[in-house]
Amino acid sequence: MNKSILITWGLGYIGSHTCSVLGQKGYDLIIVDNLSNSEITVLDKLEKIIGKKPLFYQTDLRDFEEVEKIFQNHEIEGVIHFAGLKAVGESCEYPFLYYENNIQASLNLFQLMEKYQVKNLVFSSSATVYDATKNLPPFSEMDAVGTTNPYGTTKLVLEEILKDLANFKGFYVMNLRYFNPIGAHESGLIGENPQGIPNNLLPYIFKVAQGEQEYLKIFGDDYETPDGTGVRDYIHVMDVAEAHLVAYEWLKKKKSLNVHQEQHWTWMFEIFNLGTGIGTSVKEMLDMVQMVTGKEIPSQIVARRSGDIAVSLANPQKAKQILGWEAKRTVLQAIKDAWNFLQ
Ligand code: NAD
Ligand code: WQD
Repeated sequence: MNKSILITWGLGYIGSHTCSVLGQKGYDLIIVDNLSNSEITVLDKLEKIIGKKPLFYQTDLRDFEEVEKIFQNHEIEGVIHFAGLKAVGESCEYPFLYYENNIQASLNLFQLMEKYQVKNLVFSSSATVYDATKNLPPFSEMDAVGTTNPYGTTKLVLEEILKDLANFKGFYVMNLRYFNPIGAHESGLIGENPQGIPNNLLPYIFKVAQGEQEYLKIFGDDYETPDGTGVRDYIHVMDVAEAHLVAYEWLKKKKSLNVHQEQHWTWMFEIFNLGTGIGTSVKEMLDMVQMVTGKEIPSQIVARRSGDIAVSLANPQKAKQILGWEAKRTVLQAIKDAWNFLQ
């Protein structure tokens, strides 16, 4: 029997794109998702892309017994864990919801991984862990970390826990810090379509383009950036997805080399930025979306959003040098793919 990769929270935005890449590479996938922020139709779309339907469990990761059944019933070789409720504002209002879903549910998973000796893990972290008061962009993996909200705190706590599990329980962990994923699968079958009013820039601009919001509120044009608006490192979600495949395969190779060469350390905790190193401002993004959609998109400058920083940019060199991975697609391509998906 082939061993499978368990993809937790796997029908969401980044999870589904990653499943498409791993599935096309021939991996057997077991997806766990409670469908709180995704739809079951994504599974059929994945089947179309991959040519085979991944196994799916509609299970909440907080439910220890149900998740244990999955470990009992399948040969799992590794886990890609997409856990994280991810809305900063919501996390400030409902911190316990975030601790339960992000930390407690992850602890369930890690305990089961330990119990069933499944120790290969790729984990979704975020650029939000970089402390902007202590570092100047671009941010490198060794830069100081610190958070300002419960969402960011959950990521940092999990990073620390995973470091311990690597050190003392032999886990092999690839800790990926995503910058700002945008875009959609080139087929137009899967993409990002957030429920309600989006928090993130590109989905919000699209809502204006589709007439569902009146205008884009540009949160400040007095930052120390070339046009005064916030600059971010937007990365195509398919580049992010491919990075998971590369990271997972690198982890397995490294592990087999270590075991083979009887290295005295048999664990790993490696951090990699997933970004491009290229910045795009809010105004530049707006211009590109107008060009791609052919629509005039009204906007107004409003006050800065609390907690925002002027510039967030990755130093992507470590992933390039060690994994041989770098983002290939442009922001313009990502906007086109996302718009194609929404059509
Ligand atoms: P998403 O909300 O699109 O996907 C999350 C998926 O998990 C959804 O399908 C949802 O139904 C499912 N889910 C939620 N709670 C669950 C639970 N308790 N048990 C089982 N399934 C559950 O999010 P995403 O954008 O794909 O983000 C994935 C990860 O990437 C998160 O950890 C997020 O913090 C991280 N990240 C995202 C971004 C971004 O901008 N999208 C940036 C940096 C990091
Ligand atoms: C981008 C730029 C805004 C909306 C957030 C999370 C972070 C990470 C990614 C998960 C900023 C401006 C936005 C709008 C605007 N998620 N903007 N009007 O702030 O980099 O990060 O998502 O880890 O944790 O905080 O992304 O898309 O919200 O904003 O002017 O309606 O667009 O001020 O400059 P951000 P974003």
